[in-house]
Amino acid sequence: MTDFRNKVVYQIYPKSFKDSDGDGVGDLRGIIEKLDYLAELGVDYLWITPFFLSPQKDNGYDVADYTAIDPRFGSMEDFEELVSAAGKRGLKIMLDMVLCHTSDQHLWFQKALEGDETYRRYYILRDGRNKKDPEDPGEPPTNWQCAFGGSAWQWEPRQGKWYLHLHDVSQPDLDWTNPRVREELAGVVRFWKERGVAGFRFDVINLISKPERFEDDTEGLGRRLFADGPHVHEYLRELVASAGLEGMVTVGEMASTDLENCLLYTRPEAHELSMVFNFHHLKVDYRDGDKWALMEPDIMELKRLFAAWQTGMAEGGGWNALFWCNHDQPRIVSRFGDEKTYRKESAKMLAACIHLMRGTPYIYQGEEIGMTNPGYTSIDQYRDVESLNHYQILLDKGKTEGEALEILSVRSRDNGRTPMQWSEEPHGGFSEAEPWIPVAANFAEVNVASDMREKDSIFSFYRELIRIRKEMPIVAEGGIRFLEEENPDVLAYERRWNNESLIVLCNFRRQYARLIKGCVSDYEKDGYRKRIGNYQGTGAGLRPYEVIVYHKVG
Ligand code: NOJ
Repeated sequence: MTDFRNKVVYQIYPKSFKDSDGDGVGDLRGIIEKLDYLAELGVDYLWITPFFLSPQKDNGYDVADYTAIDPRFGSMEDFEELVSAAGKRGLKIMLDMVLCHTSDQHLWFQKALEGDETYRRYYILRDGRNKKDPEDPGEPPTNWQCAFGGSAWQWEPRQGKWYLHLHDVSQPDLDWTNPRVREELAGVVRFWKERGVAGFRFDVINLISKPERFEDDTEGLGRRLFADGPHVHEYLRELVASAGLEGMVTVGEMASTDLENCLLYTRPEAHELSMVFNFHHLKVDYRDGDKWALMEPDIMELKRLFAAWQTGMAEGGGWNALFWCNHDQPRIVSRFGDEKTYRKESAKMLAACIHLMRGTPYIYQGEEIGMTNPGYTSIDQYRDVESLNHYQILLDKGKTEGEALEILSVRSRDNGRTPMQWSEEPHGGFSEAEPWIPVAANFAEVNVASDMREKDSIFSFYRELIRIRKEMPIVAEGGIRFLEEENPDVLAYERRWNNESLIVLCNFRRQYARLIKGCVSDYEKDGYRKRIGNYQGTGAGLRPYEVIVYHKVG
């Protein structure tokens, strides 16, 4: 059996996980303090987002030195201790490799700016358009927009060129057509592998291969031209071979990707990646595809997307990473659940819904206790570069401050970045000092200690889901078929393996919901037994946010 199918990954955003030294910023020793908690949850891998030396313009995704640990997070000794202490508890470490771009503070970029020809060729420097004379910047080479708003090109007077940055202006893109760049980056991956790392997450890895010709996108902002670019599969295979990744667990973050490419990335015979993150299911509440235009989630579209991706990946022999939350997403309970009346019920329903699909589940810190968006009301509470940029863009477009804040409170990446709520102590027990970003106001009710005191805790529900994956091969190995496709309220699917069947019924509504097929309890007449659920007993339909999982052998 392939090693990652029955595993579960827990994502740690170190800045907000646990502060061990009282400076308001989480750190590696904070993670060490919480290893017993993570082992109790039962996860296998800890994906830790970047803690490398960085000016933190994009919270560590702007790397200034790939092989140095930023002192605010700890030291190499702390890291070695983390790997070994985690290993003693059966936990493996996955690191986050940001190989598409560096920070503008990286030595390579600094040398490029000084005119060193070797390093100029590490980045993507181009002449402007419509230059009137050699000194004139002209216009940006293409109309591509960066992910955080504004042009993807920045004029660099010292070199008399524009450089490409698909993210913040402080994150120049690396030129993967240069074999030397590819060798350097493989070396970085090897460096961490040699330090006991067991897996890697590759940041926006499907953006590494830019189109051969740089031209305007006549239909959009450029994404479709540089996502899943011409040499991306070849570069990934080369990276796997030269960094020795075969047999390790790897996951690629794929921006604006498609099923066809995700099959190519993850089919075992392709020797590229173990699995991929795609984000289509997390755009069903974007009005006209615009993240900054609010809309209620379109549950029918969500169902359609899951059905297409789950069955498409199964038929083509690919493998999905399963997730609702990460450090770039608002909290799922606030988004597709009900953070007030049915917080516990909806947290559990959403957990079972995703964990029992075909793929490897990821739990983002705090998801296992049903953490919510913080509901910030002032722009001073935000830290994220994307949120701050878009606040200004929304105001420029004529929104009032109140309207712009309302949008941020639903869409900002900071919704997922607030300090982990460990207890009812000040700052949620995250730190003794004022945290770098405000803790959510509900920390006194929503925290690890209070959740774990309850018999039917969200934490224990997650633990049970993880146990089910380990005990029942059908979860890791089974096929998948979607049910109730016309039902606007219920997302339902069946997993099948040998002579076993597992049925998962999820009510996505605040109201009682019925099945098209008949009564929920009909499954019992059919010989199914309830394996897990978030309410006592069963009835004709599903109660608000109810999930029922039925199992039958034979
Ligand atoms: C995806 C990361 O998850 C996000 O936090 C970051 O801003 C971008 N990639 C750029 O590295």
